[in-house]
Amino acid sequence: MENHPLQKAMLKKLASDYGTPLYIYDAYKIKQQIETFRKAFSEIDMRLFYAMKANSNLSILKWMKHLGTGVDTVSANEVALALRAGFRPENIVFTPNMVNFDEIKQAVKAGVFINIENLSNLEKLGKAYGKSVPCFIRINPLLDDMPWENDVEAWHKQSKFGIALQQFDRVHDLVNRYGIPVIGLHLHASHVIMSREVFLRGAQIVFELAKEFSGVKYLDFGGGLRPEEPDNPKVFDVFALAEAFREKFYQFRQETGRKLQLWFEPGRFLIRQAGYLLVRTEVIKNNGIVDFTGVNSGFNHLIRPMLYGSWHNIINISNPAGEKKKYNVVGNLCEIDNFAIGRTLNEVREGDLLLVENAGAYGFSMSSHYNSRFKPAEVMIVNDKPFLIRKRDTLDDLLRNQIEINF
Ligand code: LLP
Repeated sequence: MENHPLQKAMLKKLASDYGTPLYIYDAYKIKQQIETFRKAFSEIDMRLFYAMKANSNLSILKWMKHLGTGVDTVSANEVALALRAGFRPENIVFTPNMVNFDEIKQAVKAGVFINIENLSNLEKLGKAYGKSVPCFIRINPLLDDMPWENDVEAWHKQSKFGIALQQFDRVHDLVNRYGIPVIGLHLHASHVIMSREVFLRGAQIVFELAKEFSGVKYLDFGGGLRPEEPDNPKVFDVFALAEAFREKFYQFRQETGRKLQLWFEPGRFLIRQAGYLLVRTEVIKNNGIVDFTGVNSGFNHLIRPMLYGSWHNIINISNPAGEKKKYNVVGNLCEIDNFAIGRTLNEVREGDLLLVENAGAYGFSMSSHYNSRFKPAEVMIVNDKPFLIRKRDTLDDLLRNQIEINF
């Protein structure tokens, strides 16, 4: 714990200054992750667009902007927030799924890069703007020449995204009919794809397809890269991935004489490990079978363990030398609400502070007011100094927008 990037003393002080539950972000860790990514891809022309759905706090966005990333958005509201955070339109890419064309029109008006992922909106784009609005096209690679192992199957299952390769005749028809300038191709492999082979096979298809579109300057490979985790040997190393991309990048240039720029849209890689959820143990309880440590949070604040079975390391910062014991770490919602089952922790006592790690991505951004509880406050540590970047809710936040009928 003494070596923990957030010192124990600091965490206790944060808990007493801002209360718990509290989201804490380490700006330095975000910077390190960006630097790692850039270092890995340093030999090719590469740009990063932070996927803000992972965490859209304005101060986080401003930090990303300060560090020179662009931003990947998926709704007109995210575009508005990104602009509000100070990103210039040329540093914003809009990658929505299944949206009404009106939302795309708003993004066009804002002047951001447009990524189209279905034939219906491609046709509408062509009809509305003809040659005047360039776009990216998102592909669904449908890797049916690969063995249907878990990764490939996962990709197929989420195939509501993108335009299937088999439908690219239609894409060419529409592009030719309306003169739509296709300047980029896009593919998002998703973090469920754990194998470098599958990721690269998808990438290879994009490089091949780029040969059919002479106006393509950018290839966007989305996000889905997992940061390295000591407990997960299957996570692929970003340096090895970059090496494979380097080969494809230069091979393409040699074959076509065209110089591409590669884009990535990482969310979790940049912010997952930079975020922590600090909670307090309210009740220790044994139901005759298991020991529970009941904390003042739940899936209303961090839904990933319940929704995806995600594993988050948990540290008892109040009793680091305590005897090791097994607990079900549970929240306070009135339904099954686990952070961890059968987790070994240093003995937990009521009042102890627990630190839930790797909670920076899809933590706060997927939180809710379920059970009419307040969302946590958020603090960002910059140069060892804490800054409150979101206040804890108050009852007014729960009442906002409600219109009462008085019977
Ligand atoms: N680009 C596109 C087009 C995406 O759909 C996503 C995530 C990203 C980039 C960023 O992916 P990342 O690098 O963060 O894996 N709520 C889930 C994750 C959903 C991801 C959806 N798309 C979770 O908590 O794991």
